[in-house]
Amino acid sequence: MDTVIIKIDAGNVSAKDVEEAARILNYGGLVAFPTETVYGLGGDARNPDASAKIYAAKGRPSDNPLIVHIADLDELGGVCGVNYVTAVTQRAEALARRFWPGPLTMILPRGKAIPKETTGGLDTVAVRCPSHPIARALIRAAHLPVAAPSANLSGRPSTTKAEHVIEDLNGRVDMIIDGGSSDIGLESTIIDITSGIPCVLRPGYISIEQLREVLPETEYDRAIVSGKQDADIKPKAPGMKYRHYAPKGELTIYRGSLKAVTEAINSAVKAEQAKGRSVGVMASSEYTGMYECADIKILGSRKNEEEIAVHLFDVLRSFDADGTEVIFGECFDDGSLSAAIMNRLMKAAGYRIVEV
Ligand code: TXA
Ligand code: MG
Repeated sequence: MDTVIIKIDAGNVSAKDVEEAARILNYGGLVAFPTETVYGLGGDARNPDASAKIYAAKGRPSDNPLIVHIADLDELGGVCGVNYVTAVTQRAEALARRFWPGPLTMILPRGKAIPKETTGGLDTVAVRCPSHPIARALIRAAHLPVAAPSANLSGRPSTTKAEHVIEDLNGRVDMIIDGGSSDIGLESTIIDITSGIPCVLRPGYISIEQLREVLPETEYDRAIVSGKQDADIKPKAPGMKYRHYAPKGELTIYRGSLKAVTEAINSAVKAEQAKGRSVGVMASSEYTGMYECADIKILGSRKNEEEIAVHLFDVLRSFDADGTEVIFGECFDDGSLSAAIMNRLMKAAGYRIVEV
């Protein structure tokens, strides 16, 4: 298939700019578009064939449900179920008032308009109202709820720039909208509000502390707390069980003091180089000068977690582009974004973490 690539200025979006993309969605086609978190691969959430095309284009297992994107809170009733009971409604509205439009996804009872093909067979549906002007203009122009997983091939790091999307999906989708870099760089926070205790299934830019300001009893899903791939703890977000965000090279994360981490990484670099393997280090700017390695890629400053988050997937992808076989990285354990950053890093590393 020929993929049409168009550029839209995120600072100045008109209805005309997204007209063709909206038409494609209405015909059951696929459009990759920018959001404030990562790029999404959109299709008509009401159309089972469009959902099937999304799974095929990504190479994604069909039991891994898609997130349904809406442009306004008043579209929520259209995608949620009749058992959208009062307690859930109250929680959803309180969260939406505080965090929408923005990087928060809520799990709600599935409405009839959304087929099981879109929700991986589940009776719940994930819903998000993005803040990105291109995403909003597109959903409005298409007049339909847009199912959109992250716009990457399944298993690869999510995409935060159009170049990443082109790398993974050119020839597999109808259109890619280049709207520049995503602001946040990590996928949305997911909260399940359908069960007794509100439960964070995926940490993201909106922290559990912020969620607790609205719903004080909010907890993390046990699969996140355990911090490792644990056979007997099944994550409630089906997608969280898959190997994810992974570079092609083997990534190992080190935790400890600056001195211990840099010394351990330097000796690991030497050992791998002695075996003839290509080695890279993923570093914070503060630690950069301490490493003895020819290939150091900088994530950003430890004092600025947002910078680390926005560069993470881009840096993982650039190691892939270089064909780096072994990658060593640091932990980022302090600050309100650390849960989200460490969740992605641990998954990318296949839970290989060395305490030093
Ligand atoms: O920021 C984001 O959320 C991006 C942008 C494009 O909006 N989208 C995204 O979608 O990250 P995706 O498909 O890569 O991740 C969706 C996650 C998966 O882990 C999936 O299992 C979970 O949401 N999920 C979706 N529906 C669910 C449901 N009904 N119950 C539990 N988890 C669900
Ligand atoms: Mg994804």
